[in-house]
Amino acid sequence: MDLSIEKIRQDALGELETAPDAPAVQELSTRYLGRKGFVTRFLRNISRLPQADRAEAGKSGNQVKRQLEEAFERKLADLEAAGPSADAIDVSLPGRQPPVGSVHPITSISEQICGIFARMGFEVVEGPEVESDYYNFEALNIPKDHPARDMQDTFYIDDNVVLRTHTSPVQIRVMEQRKPPVRVVAPGKVYRCDSDLTHTPMFHQVEGLLVDRNISFGDLKGVLTSFVHEMFDEQTTLRFRPSFFPFTEPSAEVDILCVMCRGKGCRVCSHTGWLEILGSGMVHPALYENVGYDAGVYTGFAFGMGVERIAMLKYGIDDIRKFFENDDRFLRQFQA
Ligand code: PHE
Repeated sequence: MDLSIEKIRQDALGELETAPDAPAVQELSTRYLGRKGFVTRFLRNISRLPQADRAEAGKSGNQVKRQLEEAFERKLADLEAAGPSADAIDVSLPGRQPPVGSVHPITSISEQICGIFARMGFEVVEGPEVESDYYNFEALNIPKDHPARDMQDTFYIDDNVVLRTHTSPVQIRVMEQRKPPVRVVAPGKVYRCDSDLTHTPMFHQVEGLLVDRNISFGDLKGVLTSFVHEMFDEQTTLRFRPSFFPFTEPSAEVDILCVMCRGKGCRVCSHTGWLEILGSGMVHPALYENVGYDAGVYTGFAFGMGVERIAMLKYGIDDIRKFFENDDRFLRQFQA
C-alpha cells in the first residue's frame, strides 16, 4: 500500500479514537473525506502517478475511504447511544431547586417538649390511639357517670373501645409493665368531639409520669417550673392553681403570665392575665391499686399538656385549624 495513504488512514483513525462528540467527528469527516480532504486529494492526485502505480493506489485509496466512512459512521452511532455530551449541558443555567419539606410545627414543639424532659431523665414512650374504656377511663378512676365519658365528647368505636381522649391511659400501661422508679413522657394524638377556634377533633398531648419513693408535690413544682422556664423563657412567671382530675390528688393546673399582655388582661387570656398550659397532680392512690403498686411505699406525680396550645402561645397563633389546613405558606414560616 502507498505509504502516504497508509499514514492518512492511521492519523484519521487515531484522531477519531479521541473525538469527544458528534461535531468533532463531523469535523474529521470533512478534513479527511470532504471535497478538499486528505483522502479525496489523494484519489484526485492518482492521475499524476506513473501509469504502473495508478491501479494499486486507486485500490488502496478507495479501500481507506470506505474504511473511514464506516468508522466515522460507527463512532457517531456509539456517541448517540452514549447520550448527550457534557457540551450539551449549559452549566451556566441556574440549578432547579426541588422544594424542600420541613418538620411540622406541632411535631417540632412536641419534640422540644419531650427533649426538655428527656434531659431531666424522662424516657419517651408511646401508647395506642384506639384505646379500651378500661385504660382511657376506668383504670384512671374516672367513674361510669363522669361527664368526660359522654357520647357527645368521645368517639366510641363500640361500647368498650374509644379513640383515646387523652394520653393519660399510657400512665396505666407503663405502670402495669414496670416497677418504680418510673419516669416517662408520652407524646401522641388524642381525640375529642369538639371543633372551634381553639379545638380540633384530633390534637396532640404530651403526658408525663414520675413514680418513686419519697416523691412530693415539691418535686412536681420543681420539674414543671424548670420545664416552663426552658420552653418559654427564664423570666416566665407561672402559678399552680388548685384543680381537679379523678386520677390525681391533689391536682393543680399550671398557668403562665399571658405572653401577649404580660398580665394586664387581653383577648388571648380572656382578660384574666393568665394562660392555662397544663394539668397536673400527685398520682391518685386508686391508680396504684389498679396496677399493683404499694401506695404505702410509692408516690409520684403526673402531668399532661396540649401541644397545639403551647405552639399557639409560643408563636402567637390565634386559630388552631391553621395547623391542619396544610397551607404551605403557613407551614413554611416554621422551617428551621
Ligand atoms: N389528662 C388530662 C387532660 O387531658 C391532663 C392531666 C394529665 C392532668 C395528667 C393531670 C395529670 O386534661
